[in-house]
Amino acid sequence: MHLRRIRGMRNKKLEGKKIVLAVTGSISAVETVKLSRELIRRGAEVIPVMSKSARKIIHPYSLEFATDNKVITEITGKVEHVELLGMDGVADLLLIAPATANTISKIANGIDDTPVTTMATTAMGSGKPIVIAPAMHESMIKNLAVSKNIEKLKEMGVEFVEPVYEEFKAKFADIESICLHVERKLYGKEFEGKRIIVTSGPTFEQIDPIRFISNRSSGLMGHEIALELWRRGGDVVVITSKPRNVHLPNFREVSVRSVEEMLNASITEVKRGCDLFVSSAAAADFTIEMAESKIKTQDELILHLKAAPKILHKIREIYDGEVIGFKAETGVGDELYNIAYEKMLSDKLSMVVANDVLEKGMGTVDTKVLVITSKRKEWIEGLKSEVAEHIVRAYIEDVLS
Ligand SMILES: Cc1cc2nc3c(=O)[nH]c(=O)nc-3n(C[C@H](O)[C@H](O)[C@H](O)COP(=O)(O)O)c2cc1C
Repeated sequence: MHLRRIRGMRNKKLEGKKIVLAVTGSISAVETVKLSRELIRRGAEVIPVMSKSARKIIHPYSLEFATDNKVITEITGKVEHVELLGMDGVADLLLIAPATANTISKIANGIDDTPVTTMATTAMGSGKPIVIAPAMHESMIKNLAVSKNIEKLKEMGVEFVEPVYEEFKAKFADIESICLHVERKLYGKEFEGKRIIVTSGPTFEQIDPIRFISNRSSGLMGHEIALELWRRGGDVVVITSKPRNVHLPNFREVSVRSVEEMLNASITEVKRGCDLFVSSAAAADFTIEMAESKIKTQDELILHLKAAPKILHKIREIYDGEVIGFKAETGVGDELYNIAYEKMLSDKLSMVVANDVLEKGMGTVDTKVLVITSKRKEWIEGLKSEVAEHIVRAYIEDVLS
């Protein structure tokens, strides 16, 4: 009841989804209150299950409070494992977080003697998706028996959230990564096996060693589109001046600064293979030759700018596949459609996303864009994460199907 205020507050990515959160006896069990709340903020319902060892680390009341559901601590005559994760089970996914070496090894070998392992045995048999976030000392994960059991489970289709290796520990992954893995497991697989290159953020054209010319782009729109394509199975490379240090499998960030660096990285990545190029960066239109030392203070300074290479035009010389382009204008009113449509034709784009920067600004968390394909002319307004979801869905409907 008390969760009504926070459910779906962050986004709706897990709306209508029931997640069984199985907690085992790692010290990282203390993180599961936050983890539950984050899943709920994305719209999910969370049903907690705890092993006996987990209950020695945190009290079930914490998870009951965090999820507003009774914690399953034993399998009773209600056959909770079948109700939730059997063939007709009402739950959508089993998330074991944190997962101990003990529980991982038991599951990999079909041993089932705790409420958590019973949930896993059932989910594996009924084909329900499973995500495991291990947490243990490095010495435990390096144990050949444990690491082989992890590999075995991966081969069986279980998704692992890579732990963070530091201080001689394989630490519980960050909550954001765990939620993203859950979303990816539950989303469509429209981009599975596809290599996608996204450019994002501004570029920095260096005037001298300490000054540069840039713009107000935050790179958030490109980042959200990249994540959305990843959720739907894509193998994504983001070429950006604003890396967000995302640690996800099949998601790589290439850090660049100038338009020239962004162009070179784009060419390199496209040559490695590309199924979709998303050109969302606000790359510089003008560049400058950098002075070798700091330009001295003076009454007036005239900078000589020259046209920067157009990344998309250069990419078109080596790549004739699918491209989503972006067009930012200021104060053009109804002409925005014509300008964007013209770009769609001249750059052979499958989709163009246009916006008038004077309306919502640049570098903001929300936006208003005009999405154009050969089948659509549609205004979308909202948080960039919501707009990104809409753009990708429009691309799937109009271009992929
Ligand atoms: C304070 C404490 C912290 C522990 N942390 C971990 C851990 O991070 N990873 C792990 O694999 N085992 C850890 N253990 C050991 C497990 O609790 C032990 O292997 C237990 O049998 C696991 O049972 P379960 O998998 O059914 O929860 C910890 C034990 C204690 C007492």
